Amino acid sequence: MSVDASTRLIDRLARRSASYADSPWAAIDPHLSAHPDLIYFGSGAPAAELYPMARFAWAAGEVWERLDPRELDYGELAGYPPLRELIVKRMVGLGIDAGDEVMITSGSQQGIDFVAKLFLDPGDVVVVEAPTYIGALQALDGYEPDYWSVPMDDEGIDVREIRRRIATTGRVPKLAYVIPTYQNPTGRTMSLDRRTALIDLCAEHGIAILEDDPYGEMWYREPPPVAMRGLSADVIYLGTFSKTMAPGVRVGWMVAPAAIYDRLLLAKEATDINAARPMMREMYLSADGFIDGHVAEARPFYRRRRDALLRALREHMPPGTTWIEPDGGFFVWVTLPVGLTAMDLLPIAARHGAGFLPGCLFYPPADAVDDSLRLSFSSLTEERIEIGIERLGRAIAEALGERVS
Ligand SMILES: Cc1ncc(COP(=O)(O)O)c(C=O)c1O
Repeated sequence: MSVDASTRLIDRLARRSASYADSPWAAIDPHLSAHPDLIYFGSGAPAAELYPMARFAWAAGEVWERLDPRELDYGELAGYPPLRELIVKRMVGLGIDAGDEVMITSGSQQGIDFVAKLFLDPGDVVVVEAPTYIGALQALDGYEPDYWSVPMDDEGIDVREIRRRIATTGRVPKLAYVIPTYQNPTGRTMSLDRRTALIDLCAEHGIAILEDDPYGEMWYREPPPVAMRGLSADVIYLGTFSKTMAPGVRVGWMVAPAAIYDRLLLAKEATDINAARPMMREMYLSADGFIDGHVAEARPFYRRRRDALLRALREHMPPGTTWIEPDGGFFVWVTLPVGLTAMDLLPIAARHGAGFLPGCLFYPPADAVDDSLRLSFSSLTEERIEIGIERLGRAIAEALGERVS
């Protein structure tokens, strides 16, 4: 095909493809090479030191040793039964009775896509927390929703505000996407009362709730409130092994109300026929008898990193900078002194050798504010955290100085 012909193809794309035109990382990546030893607080991945490499290697060997060729046929649309059973058993600890409605997904990201695919026509309203997870916006965008970005306070999303918007606009959202526990990006946890209030409001108006819970097991003080799926069987729940085992293996799961479960299965079949059967077996063998101990060891490991970050912030942040102390998860949300934006700070910080994700990325573009930034502590050593935050403090001080002069 000539260059001209292939250029013209761009004009033939579906409207929804506009949502794949710009990578959210495009604004950040160029800055990350500004310093030879940049300390990057942007990654949401676990610590690579905790990836259970030996366990995975053993499990992979066992799986391929024992595999019957018929297990390499298409099949197991809902997932490898022993893995599903293991997940169901472990979710009891989160207060969830999943019954039989568990489906293995390619990470929770795929679950967000399936739910959007099933519920959203263009222009339907989706409630999201302000700010929310970038990848959820990426997944939802393709279905062309109208977003209601609803602010949060210490107890989580402002349910009264959703009620108010329904009353004033006469519109009823189709879907509420929330991360109630150790939220990405703020680290906040929705209180039990607020969880109940959201469930009640959504039941009243027939709004589907999608609860995304990748961090619920990573608590550092005491276990979080019961999952929303534990409070109502109408909630669609997403879980994942990405934060407890490793993200690259792409194994997550979805628990769905019986009424929509079969449709989700067929959405899975339409998308990729079934999850990779050897990988599901490898995850089952790796996790069975191992994952609980692994998570128990990971908690103090991440708690030390969180504490190092909070300590460094107290020591190095200029006055006027504030942050939320999370009880779990991987993130600390930092709000800058009045007048500074995170995008403006990014090149200055990169020059000083510190990188982060600017807050504006965590909102639908029409609602974006940029007074905050997300720092992740999961994949950096305590020593690197200390050095990186000292650099960030110097960068903020410099940006403040520039603003004054
Ligand atoms: C809130 C949230 N949901 C989903 C994901 C993606 O998880 P997975 O790797 O299971 O697709 C992440 C990863 O950072 C996340 O923070």
